[in-house]
Amino acid sequence: MVDLKEAPKAMQLDVVSIFPDFFRGILDCGLIKRAQSGGQLRILLHDLRDYTEDRHRTVDDRPFGGGPGMVFKPLPVFRAVEAIKSGEPEAAIPVILLSPQGRLLRQPVVEELSRHRRLILICGRYEGVDERVAEYLATDELSIGDYILSGGELAAAVVMESVARLLPGVLGNEESVAQDSFGLHRVPGEPAAQGLFDCPHYTRPADFRGMRVPEVLLSGDHEEIRRWRHRRALEKTWRKRPDLLNDVDFSEEDQRLLEELKQASSPILSQGG
Ligand code: ADE
Repeated sequence: MVDLKEAPKAMQLDVVSIFPDFFRGILDCGLIKRAQSGGQLRILLHDLRDYTEDRHRTVDDRPFGGGPGMVFKPLPVFRAVEAIKSGEPEAAIPVILLSPQGRLLRQPVVEELSRHRRLILICGRYEGVDERVAEYLATDELSIGDYILSGGELAAAVVMESVARLLPGVLGNEESVAQDSFGLHRVPGEPAAQGLFDCPHYTRPADFRGMRVPEVLLSGDHEEIRRWRHRRALEKTWRKRPDLLNDVDFSEEDQRLLEELKQASSPILSQGG
């Protein structure tokens, strides 16, 4: 669970990209805009071309050893990060290279990132980035999933949004952070059941075209509702992402529930878990 007390008051994200304009729309709406105007988040966009040293503002070159495509040169990336870091003690700011080869961005990673006061995000492009960036400059390499995007900008936007919503006061209701999917059921006084999907939610009308809201939710019996929600969360996770259950520390009651679910149904997808 995120210890909201541990999180910094305002976070600064420095984003290095050859397409800084890509982020304009994202910065100007919804949660990220609110986080900036509320003073919880500061986002600085840096055009990688501003750190080149030639007339043509060249950021890439052909790969040594031949092969297709172009590779980001190390110099502009190193210069950009050095300029951003100037004045800060060396290892203090995580430098994150967004790449399909990084460790997978999952909610615990987002929680970890949200505790930093600053992050530098480097968006790669083309066929790749000179390996010395990953080896000597970046302190972390993150992927948002096992698929290839043409650059790290979308991935950086995902990091921005997922981190911003964990900063204190951004959602306006810290309770909803605590009860999200993957951080579900932090019911006060109960052991946290991390790594589960959220339970299903319904709103009015109770009967929509003959599709009725589960009766228990209309019953007013809070203990019964709590139990139902917990059971549905377990069930949903088991059916859709059984692999997530490997990371959960279950109570005895949950283990019994899970056994029942396993006997009654099979997962929709088996994802290596
Ligand atoms: N750049 C290209 N593909 C990516 C991915 N899946 N995650 C992060 N950065 C990327």
